[in-house]
Amino acid sequence: MKVRAHAPGRVNLIGDHTDYMGGLVLPMAVDRGTTVTGERGGDVVRLVSADEAGEAVVALDVDEPAAAEPRWARHVAGVVWALRPREGFDGEVATTLPLGAGLSSSTALEVAVALAVGYDGARLEFASALQRAEQAATGVPCGLMDQLVIIGGVAGHALLIDCASLETAPVPIPDEVDVVIAHSGQRRELGLSAYAERRAQCEAAEAVVGPLRAASRAEVEAIADPLLRRRARHVVSENERVRDFAAALSSGDPETAGALMDESHRSLAEDFDCSTPKLDELVARLRGTPGVLGARLTGAGWGGCVVALARAGATVDGRRVRAVGAASVLRW
Ligand code: GLA
Repeated sequence: MKVRAHAPGRVNLIGDHTDYMGGLVLPMAVDRGTTVTGERGGDVVRLVSADEAGEAVVALDVDEPAAAEPRWARHVAGVVWALRPREGFDGEVATTLPLGAGLSSSTALEVAVALAVGYDGARLEFASALQRAEQAATGVPCGLMDQLVIIGGVAGHALLIDCASLETAPVPIPDEVDVVIAHSGQRRELGLSAYAERRAQCEAAEAVVGPLRAASRAEVEAIADPLLRRRARHVVSENERVRDFAAALSSGDPETAGALMDESHRSLAEDFDCSTPKLDELVARLRGTPGVLGARLTGAGWGGCVVALARAGATVDGRRVRAVGAASVLRW
C-alpha cells in the first residue's frame, strides 16, 4: 500500500514562551509543509530526504532516539520510540519549510512520519505522544503548541489554545489582512539554545508567586530577583496580549492586533532575551514598510523567522502565508 502523509508547518501569530507554562498561544497552520511518501512494511523505518543529507534508518524497537544519526533522523526515531508502530516504512521526505527557522519544521516532520506509519489516535493523545517524541529526540522541554496546531489546524483560522485546559478555539483571519513571514537567515537549533534555561527560570518564578497563568502583573513586579521578574513579566503580559489580539482580530481592529505584536516582540527581546540583532533589525524594517500593522519574532527566537500582520495586498518583503487545515494522510 502506498501512503502519502502531509503535515503543515505553523507560524505563531502571538504567544511565545507561554505554552510550557500553561499559557495562551495563537498559532496557525500554514500552506508550507512536509510530505512523507512511501510504503508500509518491514521492520525498520527508512527515509531519505530531498532536503537533508543521509538516510534515516530506525529500528522499530529503537530505545535512544537522541543518539540517531544523521541528526534529522532523531525526529524519525523519536516518533518510532513514542508510537511503536507495528510495521516499518520505506520512503522519502520533502519539505517546503525552511529548516530550523521557527516554523516548526521538526514537528511537521514528526507528524508526517506518524501518519505515514499508520498512527490514528485521538488529537490530544497524538499531540502529547509527539511532544514526548520531540523531547526525547532533542532534549528540549518543549510545550504542546506546535503539535496541537499541526494536528488540529482549521483552514482560514488561527487556533487560540489554552495550554492549561488544552481547549482550542478557531479565530478567523479576516480578509483585510495578510500574514507575512520573513526569514532572518539565522538557522538555530533549540537544543543548543537557552530554551531549557528559560523554562527553568519561569518555573523558578512560579516557585515564588505560584502559577504564572494566574499571577497578576503586581505579583510579578514584587518578585525580588530581577532576572526571574523579567521572565515572569514576559509570560504574564504575553498571555494578556494573546487574549487581546484574538479579540482585536475578531472585532475588526487589526491596528490594535498589530500594535500588540510590536509589544510582544519588545517583551521577547527585553524581558525574555530571546531575540537577536538580526531579528530586531528585520522586525524594524518590516514595521517601517507601508501597510504593515505589526511584526514580531515567531517561535522560540534566537534566529529564524519573523511574522508581520499587513493590510491585504500591501507589498511586503517576505512571503505571504495562508492558514490551512490539519495534517492528513492518503492511501492508495
Ligand atoms: C518552540 C516549542 C514550542 C513553544 C515555542 C515558543 O516552538 O516547540 O512548544 O514553546 O518554541 O513559543
